[in-house]
Amino acid sequence: MKKVPPNIHFTQNVNQQLQSCLALFNPDKIAILVDENTLVHCLPKLTSIKGIPLIQIASGEKNKNIETCQIIWQKLTDFKFTRKSLLVNLGGGVIGDMGGFVAATFKRGIPFINIPTTLLSQVDASIGGKLGIDFNEFKNHIGVFKDPDAIIICDDFLNTLPHRQLKSGYAEIIKHGLIYDLAYWQDIQMTLFSGIKEWQDFIEKSVLVKADVVKKDPYESGLRKILNFGHTLGHSIESWYLDTEKDLLHGEAIAAGMIMEAKLALDLGLIEKGYFEQVVSYIDAVFDRVMVFPPFDKIKTLLGQDKKNQGSTVMFSLINGPGSCLFDVEVNDAQIADAINFYLDSESHR
Ligand SMILES: NC(=O)c1ccc[n+]([C@@H]2O[C@H](COP(=O)([O-])OP(=O)(O)OC[C@H]3O[C@@H](n4cnc5c(N)ncnc54)[C@H](O)[C@@H]3O)[C@@H](O)[C@H]2O)c1
Ligand SMILES: [Zn+2]
Repeated sequence: MKKVPPNIHFTQNVNQQLQSCLALFNPDKIAILVDENTLVHCLPKLTSIKGIPLIQIASGEKNKNIETCQIIWQKLTDFKFTRKSLLVNLGGGVIGDMGGFVAATFKRGIPFINIPTTLLSQVDASIGGKLGIDFNEFKNHIGVFKDPDAIIICDDFLNTLPHRQLKSGYAEIIKHGLIYDLAYWQDIQMTLFSGIKEWQDFIEKSVLVKADVVKKDPYESGLRKILNFGHTLGHSIESWYLDTEKDLLHGEAIAAGMIMEAKLALDLGLIEKGYFEQVVSYIDAVFDRVMVFPPFDKIKTLLGQDKKNQGSTVMFSLINGPGSCLFDVEVNDAQIADAINFYLDSESHR
């Protein structure tokens, strides 16, 4: 039976929930981390903590790096933060991953609360205690595992989220059904993304999937790797985009990665053609294909830094049936090239 961990709070009243968490932790100081968008759209909803010092950073994956961490560490130092002080991270996965990393390393760790404000961070990024930043072109290359002291999830924040960002989060929802929960995948398959008006049910189901997997394997020595379905090739594409002027959202890269990795699963005989076609056509119905890719050599270099590698072997997490996924699956270069060619071949998604 899947259970919601005690530090995760679903609420329709973010102020009340935040107040009760703060009363419990009783910090000597508080600061709140925002970007320019969460400053405008999300902070005004936190009416109960007016007058608290703000730390504002620039939004976006391109700023999830050590330079931005230095700005935040400096601010905490200026505010004379002690180990009893608490940081509230108000934003999407970038703010949550980076604000959490800064808090987990400042004076060897201060308490922090994540208030995820994007669909992607509510269903995935805020859960499971992976914190970190990108390094040069490598995604999430530097980081730690540490669970936030509280995660407060309120779907009210999604009302101001741009449509493209909402869709990006939906990629992780699709992933959760595909890898771990047959009934969830069946519900998702019956659902048109454009017809979804209420997110609460999806958020709760996805959080339960992720929390259950993480509880069984918190430090990713085995099962937790299944959450990386779509992320091995997806991250390599996302990393390459980080270095260009073009932009590609995390979920968009993962949607592309899931199609390519489903093709690997098909070629390795892990899934049947009918299921493969169902998966690909569902993802294609939601996401446009990404048509500009790094050269194969570049993809290989980026895959060479994947955190799941063993020695020089790239390991994939691949679906092996509806609601089920394997990890540590070895795949060769020719198979990777075939999967990429399949994805880029326009005939495959007419
Ligand atoms: N730690 C994990 O386990 C984990 C899992 C999945 C993804 N991630 C990470 O999450 C990041 C992506 O997160 P994301 O998709 O939330 O992106 P994001 O944090 O960049 O947020 C997307 C955009 O939405 C804006 N925004 C946030 N909330 C808003 C709101 N309520 N209204 C209007 N605008 C709002 C932000 O300012 C930003 O411009 C990536 O860095 C990825 O690596 C981490
Ligand atoms: Zn992801």
